[in-house]
Amino acid sequence: KRVAILISGGGSNMVSLVDSMTGDHPARPCLVLSNDANAGGLTKAAERGIPTASVDHRPFKGDRAAFEAELLKPLEEAQPDIVCLAGFMRVLTGGFVSRFQGRMLNIHPSLLPKYKGLNTHARAIEAGDAEHGCSVHEVTAALDDGPILGQARVDIEPGDTSEALAARVLVWEHKLYPTVLRRYASGDRTPVLLP
Ligand code: GRF
Repeated sequence: KRVAILISGGGSNMVSLVDSMTGDHPARPCLVLSNDANAGGLTKAAERGIPTASVDHRPFKGDRAAFEAELLKPLEEAQPDIVCLAGFMRVLTGGFVSRFQGRMLNIHPSLLPKYKGLNTHARAIEAGDAEHGCSVHEVTAALDDGPILGQARVDIEPGDTSEALAARVLVWEHKLYPTVLRRYASGDRTPVLLP
């Protein structure tokens, strides 16, 4: 299976996914694509010998469809079987998503369906939740929605700052996403629940 990974920044989730696709793993990375030419993850991907591309979203301003039409070019050229969004910070339209319906995954730093959108760690702390975590889901037209393929739970500690909590959740993202991808690439949709 060919896996394309979309990033916007450092790409730590992308690195975890790429480094997991070895040996008898049914998938291999075929492209790392970013909306920012300066994304640190592009360097990490190139160091691992993975083809990279970037399409800057800024020249397109509010014209999301025009940006996505450009983004599609390297993505379709790579002929991925699976597309993983990993720290990709642009909202994708239903038109784009529909081209990959049923084979596009995303990782979101909350226990979905709670805390869709941004600032999830601060919101969980603010709400006084006892636990938080991350979710991998199939991408549908609705933001941070779609069937849950895996979750990892993390306790919220007394006095936790959103930075400290985010750092603990990120460690589990790096465990969850590769586990889900391996299962997903082998055709198994049974949800992964960690720890
Ligand atoms: C992280 O905060 C993660 O929770 C979310 O995107 C952010 C950056 O991730 N998925 P990465 O290091 O670029 O993978």
